[in-house]
Amino acid sequence: MRSRRRILTGDRTTGKLHLGHYVGSLKSRVELQDEYETFILLADVQALTTHFEEPELINSSILDVTMDNLSVGLDPEKVTFVQQSQITSIAELTVFYSMIVSVNQLRHNPTIKTEAANYGYEDLSYGFLGYPVSQTADISFINADLVPVGEDQVPHIELSRKIIRKFNKLYGTNITVPRAKLSEVGRLAGLDGNAKMGKSMGNAIYLSDSPEVVWQHVRKAVTDTSRVHAHMEGHPEVCNVYKYHQVFNPGETDEIHKECTSAALSCFACKQRLNEVLNNLLEPMRERRAYYENNIDIVKDLIHEGSKKANAIGNENLERIKEKMHILI
Ligand code: TRP
Repeated sequence: MRSRRRILTGDRTTGKLHLGHYVGSLKSRVELQDEYETFILLADVQALTTHFEEPELINSSILDVTMDNLSVGLDPEKVTFVQQSQITSIAELTVFYSMIVSVNQLRHNPTIKTEAANYGYEDLSYGFLGYPVSQTADISFINADLVPVGEDQVPHIELSRKIIRKFNKLYGTNITVPRAKLSEVGRLAGLDGNAKMGKSMGNAIYLSDSPEVVWQHVRKAVTDTSRVHAHMEGHPEVCNVYKYHQVFNPGETDEIHKECTSAALSCFACKQRLNEVLNNLLEPMRERRAYYENNIDIVKDLIHEGSKKANAIGNENLERIKEKMHILI
């Protein structure tokens, strides 16, 4: 028996990670790394589903995403980094699982629908439509128990649970049925008023952004549009900056609420306060990242060694699965 339960979670390697990723998943990864044996997947195959024409971006993002994860405080002594394309058991399990998932189940997945609409896809590629199946293999090749993810991933984890249950029943395997771990905050909105922070929205504050860039985003943030003068009373419940104070500065929200609604605090000063809070969060991340950027071989070693370790575990598990499937002669 394993001594500790396992976490597997990961990120597509299509660019650097931002505050939305931090709030949705990275923060809980850091909090849980002692309690769980943690695997961080660098999802380069999943990145190909949308970025197959940009191999250079995927390549540099494998390193960026690893450094982002390290910068938030994941301890390389404790967590294992896994490059998805290097894990043969993920590829094999994906094929096996694909036999027991219907195309309709995939077509009705709300996250797939939203993403397809965002990317302007009408005729979906087989690989894109099927990425939740491959994600099921990501999670189960090492029998992960817990998957810390943002809420957009919930339909995928639900599907994973269905696939794994069905597979276990069919073949008598004992693959772990995973659970999602959602963050308390839910989805992080954009400071620009957009419902979501995202790269394609142009409103992302990256974990590696400089203080100047962070201030540019905060300075331009849309507040209470009806408060056209600082001496007018504000309405925090409609204000994006206030939402951020609630997420990143919970200790001061009551005070800010009072000062805003009594016009004691101007939007500009309120933004300055948020800017400081965000930079206090990001500064240690920038420092850790700078270390790894200057020691990129350490980062590459972590990916190579981690993938090797994960491959060994996956191969062993797959051997047992194939036995149960009666495909070994
Ligand atoms: N789909 C996830 C995202 O877009 C990334 C991902 C790939 C993932 N494989 C995973 C997340 C396995 C959790 C578990 O962010």
